[in-house]
Amino acid sequence: MSAEPLEIYLEERDLDRALRSDVRDGLTADPKWLPPKWFYDARGSELFEEITRLPEYYPTRAERAVLAARAADVAASTGAKTLIELGSGSSEKTRLLLDAFTRQGGLGTFVPLDVSVSALRQSTAQIAADYPALRVRGIVGDFTRQLDRLPTGGRRLVAFLGGTIGNLLPAERAGFLAAMRAALEPDDHLLVGTDLVKDPAVLVPAYDDAAGVTAEFNRNVLRVVNRELAADFDPAAFAHVAVWDPAREWIEMRLRAGRAMRVRIAALGLSVDFAEGEELRTEVSAKFRPEGIAAELTAAGFVPAEFWTDPDGLFGVTLARAC
Ligand code: SAH
Ligand code: AVI
Repeated sequence: MSAEPLEIYLEERDLDRALRSDVRDGLTADPKWLPPKWFYDARGSELFEEITRLPEYYPTRAERAVLAARAADVAASTGAKTLIELGSGSSEKTRLLLDAFTRQGGLGTFVPLDVSVSALRQSTAQIAADYPALRVRGIVGDFTRQLDRLPTGGRRLVAFLGGTIGNLLPAERAGFLAAMRAALEPDDHLLVGTDLVKDPAVLVPAYDDAAGVTAEFNRNVLRVVNRELAADFDPAAFAHVAVWDPAREWIEMRLRAGRAMRVRIAALGLSVDFAEGEELRTEVSAKFRPEGIAAELTAAGFVPAEFWTDPDGLFGVTLARAC
């Protein structure tokens, strides 16, 4: 079966409106910030895939090891008819789940949802070609706002892989889990990947690699704002910064202005001043402890059923049931 045309929950004009509002709010705040979802235009999605292959970036390999070992258990204990994947990107690791469901039988539909049209176009075409018995319904959407619109009917498994839940701030995360629970029926399941707290000597290089790919990924958000909002950021004037915050147990990515400058965002009629050394926060990537994950899921109305890690204990995958 070929992939169905992408379903659009987010039209171009919705994306434009959301970007304008985020850029205005974030760049007029003190300290300045931008939400991480704007990294992912076509180039940003490619850079993320490059990150997943870096020697320093262990989360993808570690999560893949968990899924390779446990995909059959996930298929058996969920008995899902529909697999929905949030922030699906390339869906490369998800193939381990699709393979297990194919062996078991019963899965009819795969629904990847992502804000990145380019990533979805590629992944849906490739998955439809490689899993001809599967209905593949790609959705261009925002998992922080549109969970109430997810496809219904049949037992569903929602996969949220990669540790992307850690890119939400704690209040956003609680809102996300509550909305996720509200969107599910009893006996639907959530499979969520979380990077685990570990030695900063391992964590920090994963976000500040020697080849500079993460730095390019970080600066990409400035290129997106330049292109979409006719801004004149000079990305080369911003240094990539990755710091571990031990109190909040998250990595923070920032862009540090190398000199004082005024940036014009023409589409907003806005000028923004940066002092030399001023930092713009572009992402948090929270790291978790097993008891914290279970507590957050329970508070949102899930029953955590399984918690698996890779052999090195780097990354956790939780299977939870809606109750
Ligand atoms: N799940 C994949 C990709 C992780 S990268 C993996 O594990 O490798 C994060 C993905 O989430 C990107 O594809 C990005 O486009 C998407 N994304 C980020 N914020 C989003 C949002 N608010 N709504 C939908 N997708 C989002
Ligand atoms: C998508 N997300 C889980 C990645 C992370 O590790 O937080 C995004 C990323 N940022 C820098 N490198 C990778």
